[in-house]
Amino acid sequence: MHTSQDLRRAEAVRLDAVSKTYGRGDSRVAALRGLTMSFADGTFTAVMGPSGSGKSTFLHCAAGLVQPSSGTVTVGGTDLAGLDDTRLTKLRRDRIGFIFQSFNLLPALTVMQNITLPLQLAGQRPDKALIRNVVQRVGLAERLGHLPSELSGGQQQRVAI
Ligand SMILES: Nc1ncnc2c1ncn2[C@@H]1O[C@H](COP(=O)(O)OP(=O)(O)OP(=O)(O)O)[C@@H](O)[C@H]1O
Ligand SMILES: [Mg+2]
Repeated sequence: MHTSQDLRRAEAVRLDAVSKTYGRGDSRVAALRGLTMSFADGTFTAVMGPSGSGKSTFLHCAAGLVQPSSGTVTVGGTDLAGLDDTRLTKLRRDRIGFIFQSFNLLPALTVMQNITLPLQLAGQRPDKALIRNVVQRVGLAERLGHLPSELSGGQQQRVAI
């Protein structure tokens, strides 16, 4: 998994001895057991494994969406365990992009409103020209006033991305 080139790049994400356990007693499930991995800046990684093997749990922990039961997660040099809720929210908003299989679009907001919502929450003004360019390129220009329920699955996923 590691190449000599990786070692020369900065670490984007690092997991050290990360474990995640769900439930207790008879329903206890150890989804991750002492996972240590590093992902270098500018690299692409595919995570593969059987259903239930812990892929989503791993991604949720690596993105600060779920807190590990033990171990540490570092994103761009920042230890997530050292952040309070506000700082963690800000880090997720500013530095992590997460594409959920289930989209997570807000059903009452239009396509345009869904696209610009994260920027507005971050107190930034959307760059209208940039958005027009992007929606044109992904074939959503004619759907900006539509609700997510009025889109195809692929169109909804492109709005989410
Ligand atoms: N919230 C939860 N509460 C209890 N157990 C959970 C929870 N989420 C996941 N699990 C269990 O943890 C294990 C890993 O689940 P996870 O969702 O990470 O698997 P996965 O590799 O993403 O699977 P799939 O390919 O089916 O999406 C599974 O055995 C699952 O039943
Ligand atoms: Mg999964």
